[in-house]
Amino acid sequence: MSSTILVTGATGYIGSHTCLELLESGYQLIGIDNLSNSREESLRRVQKLSGKPLTFIRCDLLDEAGLARVFAEHPVDAVIHFAGLKAVGESVEKPLLYYKNNLSGTANLLEAMANAEVKNIVFSSSCTVYGIPEKLPISEDFPLQAVSPYGQTKLTIEYMLQDLHASDPQWNISILRYFNPVRAHPSGDIGEDPSGIPNNLMPYITQVAVGEREQLSVFGGDYDTPDGTCIRDYIHVVDLAKGHIKALEKLQDNPGAVITNLGTGQGYSVLDMIRAFAAATGIKIPYQIVERRAGDTTAVYADAGKAERDLGWKAKRDLQQMCKDAHRWQSKNPRGYL
Ligand code: WQD
Repeated sequence: MSSTILVTGATGYIGSHTCLELLESGYQLIGIDNLSNSREESLRRVQKLSGKPLTFIRCDLLDEAGLARVFAEHPVDAVIHFAGLKAVGESVEKPLLYYKNNLSGTANLLEAMANAEVKNIVFSSSCTVYGIPEKLPISEDFPLQAVSPYGQTKLTIEYMLQDLHASDPQWNISILRYFNPVRAHPSGDIGEDPSGIPNNLMPYITQVAVGEREQLSVFGGDYDTPDGTCIRDYIHVVDLAKGHIKALEKLQDNPGAVITNLGTGQGYSVLDMIRAFAAATGIKIPYQIVERRAGDTTAVYADAGKAERDLGWKAKRDLQQMCKDAHRWQSKNPRGYL
């Protein structure tokens, strides 16, 4: 009988893409989400794309009784934990909202898991825990430094998980530090659906490309990089989702608590992305270089070697595919899942 996986934040951007990969890999799925920042439509499309059913339960991680019911009513073998608020800027304005939602929510989840004797978890962390790196590429043993309340919640949850494993070595924990996920599934039927003005670069580019936005503001052209704009390690969300399947499989070996970067190891600047998008789609993105955005770091990209050695995973999709798939999603869904 195939394993049953509980996915928190299942209707979200990376959650829904991972649900599709899980179904296609033969797992049984229970998805939970409070739908505060995403729509159940994403999972309806995931089931249509895979031709397989999943169970969706609307549940907030702050609802302890609701969480206990999920574990009481379903035979969960492992959890993939995506649920959490993730807007850096918003976390600076509303830190308590982020600490309550992300930290208390995770503590409730872990307690419900322990009570149900479910001790296998894959956690969605972020390269943001590295703060401002002293050198590049970034490997997992680099110093950690939260530079926003959002980053602080990711770092604190990593410590929670490691303390939990230290207290009970039966826990198998895979902490995945994502670099910059870029959508979308090649079907164009599921993708990133930011509410309001996109914070992230690629959704903004694709909204300009389909005429939803006038032009792109490039935040800063005077950084210490070849073309003056910031460098990031952009990774296709399908590659990222496949990394979760590998991480789940790794938990079978009882690895204890392990930490892995999920990145491509290749950095691209903002202007590189604009050029790549035009080359991939034929659409020139109008832009203007404006002042820097507070909190941005000059350059961030991964040493992706550990994921290949330990998980047997390596990103396969290049910038051209990222841009084509991102544009296809936005063209088919100019207003997201509306
Ligand atoms: C990328 C580059 C911007 C928008 C964030 C989170 C991180 C992770 C990934 C969750 C930067 C520039 C952007 C725009 C621009 N999320 N940019 N104009 O900030 O690297 O990472 O998302 O885990 O935690 O911090 O991604 O896409 O916002 O920015 O010039 O309209 O694009 O300055 O250099 P970021 P991003």
